[in-house]
Amino acid sequence: MTPEDNEQARLRIAALRSELEKHSYHYYVLGESIIPDAEYDRLFGELLRLEERHPALISADSPSQRVGAAPSAAFAQVKHELPMLSLDNAFDEASMRAFDRRICERLDLATIRYAAETKLDGVAISLLYEAGRLVRGATRGDGNVGEDVTQNIRTIRSIPLHLRGRGYSEKLEVRGEIFISKADFSRLNEQQQAKGEKVFANPRNTAAGSLRQLDSRMTADRPLSFFAHGALSPAAGTLPSSHLAILHNLQDWGLPVAAETDKAQGIAACLSYHRKIGARRAELPYEIDGVVFKVDDIVQQQTLGAVSRAPRWAIAYKFPPQEELTRVLDIEVQVGRTGALTPVARLEPVYVGGVTVTNATLHNDDEVRRKDVRIGDTVIIRRAGDVIPEVVAVVKDKRPENTRLFNMPTHCPACGAQTVRIEQESVIRCSGLHCPAQRVQGLIHFASRRAMDIDGLGERLIQQLFEKDYVKDIADLFALKKEQLAGLDRMGEKSADNLLAALEDSKTTQLHRFLYALGIREVGESTARNLAAHFGSMEKIQQATLEELEAVEDVGPVVAGHVQNFFADAHNKAIIDRLLLAGLHWPDVETAGRPDDLHGKTFVLTGRLGLMTREQAKERLLAMGAKVSGSVSKKIDYVIAGEDAGSKLAKAEALGLRVLSETDFLRLLDRQIT
Ligand code: IVH
Repeated sequence: MTPEDNEQARLRIAALRSELEKHSYHYYVLGESIIPDAEYDRLFGELLRLEERHPALISADSPSQRVGAAPSAAFAQVKHELPMLSLDNAFDEASMRAFDRRICERLDLATIRYAAETKLDGVAISLLYEAGRLVRGATRGDGNVGEDVTQNIRTIRSIPLHLRGRGYSEKLEVRGEIFISKADFSRLNEQQQAKGEKVFANPRNTAAGSLRQLDSRMTADRPLSFFAHGALSPAAGTLPSSHLAILHNLQDWGLPVAAETDKAQGIAACLSYHRKIGARRAELPYEIDGVVFKVDDIVQQQTLGAVSRAPRWAIAYKFPPQEELTRVLDIEVQVGRTGALTPVARLEPVYVGGVTVTNATLHNDDEVRRKDVRIGDTVIIRRAGDVIPEVVAVVKDKRPENTRLFNMPTHCPACGAQTVRIEQESVIRCSGLHCPAQRVQGLIHFASRRAMDIDGLGERLIQQLFEKDYVKDIADLFALKKEQLAGLDRMGEKSADNLLAALEDSKTTQLHRFLYALGIREVGESTARNLAAHFGSMEKIQQATLEELEAVEDVGPVVAGHVQNFFADAHNKAIIDRLLLAGLHWPDVETAGRPDDLHGKTFVLTGRLGLMTREQAKERLLAMGAKVSGSVSKKIDYVIAGEDAGSKLAKAEALGLRVLSETDFLRLLDRQIT
């Protein structure tokens, strides 16, 4: 290799790295995608090949290192330059007011400007940047000494390997929280289930465990996210003197900051922020356990200082605790819609996270053994967000003498059929083909909010309809008569009318909802969405081969098998036909533009595109099997309109053609239209 070759490779590698980092920033921090996945993969592949040929040019801060590296023996210790403090807690308004009063008195001010933030339920982290380069990531540890988890940190895509823009000091320490979003967490568990592996208990512990993997390739596989909530710089005067302004700077430098971060002037504004966020807690994309208020002025912060392990200038105003102690009165078994038997702990009623909990799932037999839960035990109950309460652990110190052990039944408690345990699965199932419990659960699932969302059709009502033989399968729901409904417990004419109207409403639905509602094994919401976006229609899904099914994101051989078996079943087919006959319908789904889906489609390009020339766009389309025409007519499938598109756009609109903006077009290439 000549020195020129080397120099050329160095330049190309540098260009590729900066290009890839830019795309990561747009995708993971700003939440938008500016190039198609395929293009990203191509650039990434080119970088990998070049680095392979020029190993001397590989550096730890290359995006190629984000996939993780070989395991290390142990984490090195890191001494924090300034201790990582924790926060004092307030649980009620009175202690919040007391906190504010103390600060006002100490600073001799009538009102304080606070920064208001969400308190993420994650894992604290310190990131050290030198000359804008990420050089170290460390856990909090005991506050003074933490662990060096740099390798693992590099795999987290929302953490920039290089800061953007300018104005940062030579040394900058960013502090924040590593967490897993709710959506990523349920997707992760869906994947675990599809692979037949164990599901994770909660996002926080999963994030903590993922961060402490000695093999960073494992960390790279977990959907970790990051939000910054502070920064320090050893050089005085290099950061603004307002905490909120510091957070703004961090954002400009490419670091993600929680969108809920806000200013709160005075105690009244703090209390209202706490109320506002509390009300939105369930809908936030990540789990929080409270809000945090920090005196915004850094000079005031310094005046106030810290006591022992917590600063005087900040406080966490927690939401009601989500974990409580209670006693296990009994352990019963529930039969789910797939026949899975779930042990459920009946509890002495306890108030957790805003609701009274009377039972909690124990997941499966293995869990009962692992946690060693016995009838009579005192247990810790946890309720995270919307999820079903679960038993976290037994308080062994409180175990009375006369506890009883629980054993899974050998026969289904609902239909008496034998129970079976499939090898390598932790689940025990009822083998009965006509098990009533399975059917009732299937109906409950069908009507549930995220499935067909049939307002007013809850568990009790379904139970009654089933017992009276009015409804045996999901299609029977749409044949219900007003007289039948009005005669049920706690139902009058009015509620019967309401339910019929809700059933009617639910007929207009979406393909992915309907698919999910069918209750195909292992097809959760996200898989249902993927299937709908990929195939676009029910017919195509029903006819898909195993191979075609496996081409869908997140669908492996097991799930593909379940989908195919489901649609091959004559009984299921008949039910679907009856549902369609009853009038269930949904708008066509724009299939995610997989390259071959563009086959035979004709495009017209008009106007100026920002990210590529029209010629480049044309090449991409042709490469994907599409045709490109120069004139607009009824035969055209899509018109891509850039800036200042003129008469062609007007004509396309007049003809009612599908007009795509440049962003739509990129998404189409990027398979993102759903
Ligand atoms: S500030 C000196 N802000 O809560 C201030 N911490 O209980 C130290 N946390 O270890 C932290 N969200 O891991 C701060 N918006 C937020 C936070 C936050 C979550 C965690 C952090 C800290 C713990 C203290």
